[in-house]
Amino acid sequence: MIYPLLRKFFFALDAETAHGIGMAGIDFVNAAGVSCLLARSVPPDPVQVMGIEFPNPVGLAAGLDKNGEHIDALAAQGFGFIEVGTVTPRPQPGNPKPRLFRIPERQAIVNRMGFNNDGVEKLLANVATAKFARWGGVLGINIGKNFDTPIEKAADDYLLCLDRVYQTASYVAVNISSPNTKNLRELQQDEALDALLGSLKEAQGRLSDRHGKYVPLALKIAPDLADEQIQAIADLLRKHRVDGVIATNTTVSRVGVEGLPNAEQAGGLSGAPLLAMSTAVVGKLATALAGEVPIIGVGGIINGADAAAKIAAGASLVQFYSGFIYRGPELVAEAAAAIARQRAA
Ligand code: FNR
Repeated sequence: MIYPLLRKFFFALDAETAHGIGMAGIDFVNAAGVSCLLARSVPPDPVQVMGIEFPNPVGLAAGLDKNGEHIDALAAQGFGFIEVGTVTPRPQPGNPKPRLFRIPERQAIVNRMGFNNDGVEKLLANVATAKFARWGGVLGINIGKNFDTPIEKAADDYLLCLDRVYQTASYVAVNISSPNTKNLRELQQDEALDALLGSLKEAQGRLSDRHGKYVPLALKIAPDLADEQIQAIADLLRKHRVDGVIATNTTVSRVGVEGLPNAEQAGGLSGAPLLAMSTAVVGKLATALAGEVPIIGVGGIINGADAAAKIAAGASLVQFYSGFIYRGPELVAEAAAAIARQRAA
């Protein structure tokens, strides 16, 4: 496999520089029609979730392609679905660099990107040039709020993004769980969440009538939640008939990386140390939701067994980001095969 060699090269560079070169690289390989050099083919394993047919249950998590600039090249790596974003109404630069750090000793990443993105209109223009959605690929669009929108006005940003992306997205992910936008995670609290979900579901109803198409809404939550908070969120998801929940985003905890270089950088931790914490949230949600709302499991998937563990805990689909950095495209086929084996057993 080529990826272990490529990884040596990338890991010698600053993480954000490596990201840019890596994305240009997979675009090049895709344009040359040789994506098979990087990715094994993934056998079809269709699953029906949120009313959508996914060609396989393994997706790319949000944040890797924030502006939807590399959709076709990423899809060629075998993913059953691609989630782009987080996108905000207006373009914004994100936090000052450096803001992306590896902890290779633990196959982990710390990031404080801060929703750097070119804004929703640019994302839509990029998506329009991709063949993926036109060819029936499942495209999630992950939406957020601008950093300078006051938290009391957050719903306006989500509603604007929902309105703009509705016709284009296969599903819309509502991100209220990034640790890198001030006060964002307060939206997970009872009253704020009740109001936000109420407004979003009402808008979804209106948009569905207007466009003659029902686009599911999935809420993306943090791993750093007490059991009572998970229960309260599950109750609200059921009350508002939210179509799906994505668990989880990065963690503010540093369990498993203590004392290592970059562990104390501010931001969200992802990768292997997040697995147990995140899969536990999937399990608790599964119990609290009693099958009424499907779960997309994400957080710390580095190998096939980790992906199968998310399904065993109650997820219907999985996603990863950090695993793609540490394992490369190989992980897509490996995760899909492990999930297929687990289902057959
Ligand atoms: C992310 N993640 C993320 N999530 C999100 O909803 N919107 C975003 O913009 C981003 N941005 C982002 C950037 C970087 C550099 C990383 C590493 C992660 C979170 C990501 O989608 C996922 O939920 C977590 O990283 C946990 O999964 P992994 O990485 O352990 O597989």
